[in-house]
Amino acid sequence: MTKKVFIKTWGCQMNAYDSDKMSDIIAPLGYSATNKMSEADLVIFNTCHIREKATEKLFSELGRFHKNQLERAKRGEKTLIAVAGCVAQAIGPEIQRRAPYVDMVFGPQTYQYLPEMIARISRGNGSILNTEFPEEIKFDRLAETSSSGISAFLAIQEGCDKFCSYCVVPYTRGTEYSRSISAIAKEANRLVELGAREITLLGQNVNAYHGEDESGNIRGLDYLISRLSEIIDLKRICYMTSHPNDMTDEIILAHKNNPKLMPFLHLPVQSGADRILATMNRKHSADDYRKIIDKLRAARPDIALSSDFIVGFPGETTFDFKATLRLISDVGFAQAYSFKYSRRPGTPASAMSRQIGEELKEERLQELQALIRQQQDAFNHSSVGKTMPVLFENKGRNGGQIRGRTPYMQSAHAKASPDLIGQEVMVKITATKTNSLEGEVV
Ligand code: SAH
Ligand code: SF4
Ligand code: F3S
Repeated sequence: MTKKVFIKTWGCQMNAYDSDKMSDIIAPLGYSATNKMSEADLVIFNTCHIREKATEKLFSELGRFHKNQLERAKRGEKTLIAVAGCVAQAIGPEIQRRAPYVDMVFGPQTYQYLPEMIARISRGNGSILNTEFPEEIKFDRLAETSSSGISAFLAIQEGCDKFCSYCVVPYTRGTEYSRSISAIAKEANRLVELGAREITLLGQNVNAYHGEDESGNIRGLDYLISRLSEIIDLKRICYMTSHPNDMTDEIILAHKNNPKLMPFLHLPVQSGADRILATMNRKHSADDYRKIIDKLRAARPDIALSSDFIVGFPGETTFDFKATLRLISDVGFAQAYSFKYSRRPGTPASAMSRQIGEELKEERLQELQALIRQQQDAFNHSSVGKTMPVLFENKGRNGGQIRGRTPYMQSAHAKASPDLIGQEVMVKITATKTNSLEGEVV
């Protein structure tokens, strides 16, 4: 019998990757994906716990879905509701208490058991809570990838041992684990067979990758990248997200020597003030970060940089905040994400004194984002007139246009035949639009 599954995903790319994996592993049970919740027999919320707002979204959505579940019940249709991801891991029992109609609550390390959990729940055996960190490696038991876009994600590492004082990830994803080189190579080959031309290697701390090769040697990200670049039809390799302390000289050198490794790096720094970096437990200074950037630029002068920033961390003074603005001015980013500090229960920073008021956080966020926007606009404008390879991924919104990305991960549109989708084509950039560049195929 065919059934429908609706998966709603919040959070990082790892969650998006996991959602695809969940979809693949239940396909043999007869589930096909739908984007209409009203026709779904199974609804999975894949959640994010990183900031309070992300977590609250779950409860408002659950309320909405419960109504839908009741409507369907009136028509004699059963709807299973599942909550997966980092909120499930962090506050599973609370979800069951606040939303008793949820059938299954399970954390990111248990997705391989999804078919068994569905079978159990369908037999009417109450509700399920599974937030274990099993010994068994989940990646090895997940189903083979069934489809791929031109640009694909591949998880190579999961978990984090860094314990930044504000962050829930080490608790929700567990300790660092790296997949083996052979398992990753197999999945990469499969993705390329299915049409992928660009692969973004994913991990909460991707540059801390240390996986085993076929001879049992432990290898770093630089080796993995060089191995994957042997796949002929794979044109582009990217990786995210990295930590400054794991940015080895070997990885930096790969940016110089490997033409398939894209000149783009997302390297979160969080703050430009050493005092704040210390209480964040980042274990690096602002100047350490500047030095890494200098090395990267020496190796690959055109590298485009991105970062994450937190404003209003406990104890952040105007002086500290100015130091962050100064770091941004010194480095010059092509883009960046920025957030107001959000107090997360159970993390050391949530118990720190001198928490910052909402108004001041908002003020600082606006100021920081204005500076980032300026740098992003300047970066995009500097592309106008240049000719660069664009990997086309899909059709654009306007008729006759196709959309792809530059080596610096900017979105770019051009009037061209859809036959070029999947190819890297030289494009002369002619203009910048709000969130995209425009160009002509040359
Ligand atoms: N190393 C991981 C970090 C995931 S969290 C990765 O980069 O994928 C992504 C970003 O969320 C962090 O870099 C940080 O800037 C932000 N963040 C994490 N915890 C936060 C908190 N408590 N409040 C505000 N922002 C936070
Ligand atoms: Fe969180 Fe820090 Fe680990 Fe990134 S490095 S996931 S911010 S604890
Ligand atoms: Fe969110 Fe978990 Fe990713 S908390 S950012 S979904 S690792």
